[in-house]
Amino acid sequence: MTCNNNLIPSDMIKQQVANVYENSYGQAPVMVFSPGRLNIIGEHTDYNEGFVFPAAIDKGIYAACGRSDSKLCKVTALDMKESYEFTLDNIAPLENGGWRNYILGVVNGIHDTGKKLAPFNLVFGGDIPEGAGLSSSAALENAVVFSLNELFSLGLSKEEMIFISQKAEHSFVGVKCGIMDQFASMFGQKNTALLLDCRTISAKAFDIDLQEYQILLINTNVKHSLSDSAYNKRRAVCEKVASLLDVKALRDVKTTHLSSISEQITDEEYQMALYVIQENKRAQKAGIAMKANDIAELGQLIYASHHGLQHQYKVSCEELDFLVDLAKLNPNIAGSRMMGGGFGGCTINIIKKDAVRNYAEKTAAAYLEKFKNNCSVYEVSLSQGTHLI
Ligand code: GLA
Repeated sequence: MTCNNNLIPSDMIKQQVANVYENSYGQAPVMVFSPGRLNIIGEHTDYNEGFVFPAAIDKGIYAACGRSDSKLCKVTALDMKESYEFTLDNIAPLENGGWRNYILGVVNGIHDTGKKLAPFNLVFGGDIPEGAGLSSSAALENAVVFSLNELFSLGLSKEEMIFISQKAEHSFVGVKCGIMDQFASMFGQKNTALLLDCRTISAKAFDIDLQEYQILLINTNVKHSLSDSAYNKRRAVCEKVASLLDVKALRDVKTTHLSSISEQITDEEYQMALYVIQENKRAQKAGIAMKANDIAELGQLIYASHHGLQHQYKVSCEELDFLVDLAKLNPNIAGSRMMGGGFGGCTINIIKKDAVRNYAEKTAAAYLEKFKNNCSVYEVSLSQGTHLI
């Protein structure tokens, strides 16, 4: 069984980031932790101004940051063993820049607010598996904006910071993401999930006590390459349908309303918009189920979400469907679905605590046999959002 949960203890990563910074620059840094996120339900609803139900997790990015005594900024990505130097007067996205574009995008976003930065050095590392759909990118963006805000006393609010992070992703990385990931990473609270209204950017906090159940993430360890372009295409379909219906976003649309334009859009587009309308309702119903401690209802909503993501929104993949189909066969699992943008990454499972070990072993074996590749199992706790450490 590959249960590579907490392979590297987070304290070690934190220490390593701090040591590398201090050894390189000879001064004590500003240190920040910024978490990744999971999402219980409400997928692809955020950029439709709907509801999502995410939580920050105890895996994330550790950043150490301080002033530079030259004109250069230097950023070191420990996990990649790469560094990048740049000056603040010439910030533009790099072709195939990878992680560098998240940093540059945030710096550019801060400039756009009119706030002044001075040259800085930053070292970061983390324990979010890349491509797992746990938002390592939002964690990195938030870590950078939060560190720079602290270092230069910029006075940015957390809300301003998440929009800077999101804009970095739109204009420097090219993914037209919603606000869920950055919000959850920044505003997460311990043992809490946030039912976020993505129109008003206001969230209701839910204590997460799943009684005899717990959350289990299973990573397919695949990330299909079309995911970014497919994401932007889905978003464009949603915007097209909203504009045909003359509303601001699909959040404002009812099913009957959608039927009135069925002749003007393809069946595929119709199903995608229908999925968003239905998923938005499911996310709100999940809040009610959670409040009532109705795990069975929550689980059914989660299964229905996957069904929609697979057949209507078409952002799932064979590996994710395989894991969800396995879960359905097991009475100890109340609900299972793909999580995040899709085309790989993790499933989220609501599973009986005493069934975790057995299920993890069986799933790992079945997955290996089917795909000749390992899946990974993570037990995560819900954690505080981006903060100084
Ligand atoms: C990615 C995006 C989010 C959201 C999810 C799908 O994680 O970054 O904004 O749209 O996909 O729910």
